[in-house]
Amino acid sequence: MITDEIRQYREQWGDRLLILGHHYQRSEIVACCDAVGDSLELSRLAADSKAERIVFCGVRFMAETADILSRAEDGRPCGRSVWLPDPAAGCPMADMATEPALEAAWQALSEVAGEPLVPVVYVNSSAEVKAFCGRHGGSACTSGNGRRVVKHFLDQGKRLFFAPDQHLCTNILRELGYPPSAVAIWRRGLELGGLTADRIQTARLIAWDGCCPIHAGYTIQDVSTARAQHPGARLVIHPEAPSPVAALADQTGSTRAIIDAVRRSDEGETFLVGTEQHLVERLARDFPGKTIHPLRPIVCGDMDRTSPEQLLELLTTWPEECLVQVPDAIVPDARTCVERMLAL
Ligand code: 13P
Ligand code: SF4
Repeated sequence: MITDEIRQYREQWGDRLLILGHHYQRSEIVACCDAVGDSLELSRLAADSKAERIVFCGVRFMAETADILSRAEDGRPCGRSVWLPDPAAGCPMADMATEPALEAAWQALSEVAGEPLVPVVYVNSSAEVKAFCGRHGGSACTSGNGRRVVKHFLDQGKRLFFAPDQHLCTNILRELGYPPSAVAIWRRGLELGGLTADRIQTARLIAWDGCCPIHAGYTIQDVSTARAQHPGARLVIHPEAPSPVAALADQTGSTRAIIDAVRRSDEGETFLVGTEQHLVERLARDFPGKTIHPLRPIVCGDMDRTSPEQLLELLTTWPEECLVQVPDAIVPDARTCVERMLAL
């Protein structure tokens, strides 16, 4: 079997290799990984790893984050490298926010606000966007620690500029008890993001209008249909879902929080899970004493790209196009952005 072959090649590397996989990967890939986690856990594992090579079964921004954390202080490579089995595995949400567009919006907003806004960027963003954030005193966040990071700055009386996921940040502010008016959305392509000076000056947080096209498709109708089909089921949903939908859930949380909710529940409990289908199917298999239904099946095409064939090809030939190398010049600022998050 191909997975046996992968394991054979993997064994030859011993501690010099670490294969990481995100929970949304196919099960054959997960079976070949040394560790599986959500974005936050995988960033921590990459930061702590001493392995010469990290193979990242996930999407590009995750591999870039691992590369950023594996460099020397000054950004130069220090004998470690990061590899992505499918170099085309990206994240459409990350692509919705480019560094020049964010920089221009941040400059304009800070001018109208009369103070520099603190940027907070979701890890689902490019290395250039993280460097922009680090340069201007901000921090990265994941869906696992977003509430903590945003609260940290809001509690200091700061006003924030959050990108790229409007839904994650709207959910975070709702859960922190802020009214909907606390968030203003910057709409790309409109003068001053379509916001008035008054709106900019009164909002606690301005959010970029990006979203995850996969999770953002959940609707209120999905919830009513699923609840009617499975009365009494507990609904747990990823915070990339639109806020009016997430507000109907019993719990929102990162992939780790969703897994923990299922694991800690009583035998016999029924769940509706609002996130990527590979994870939902694995939960159903791993917890046979509980009943797990998808809120509605959704698949991230980019996460689904990585195949066992590609992983085997990588481990046997190490093709250059699979090597992920963030430009040296932006690593220090991008690293500051990610390390601020890990320290919070
Ligand atoms: P997590 O932070 O929950 O791992 O989510 C990453 C992601 O890409 C979700 O779409
Ligand atoms: Fe990006 Fe959404 Fe896929 Fe996550 S699920 S990698 S946010 S497109």
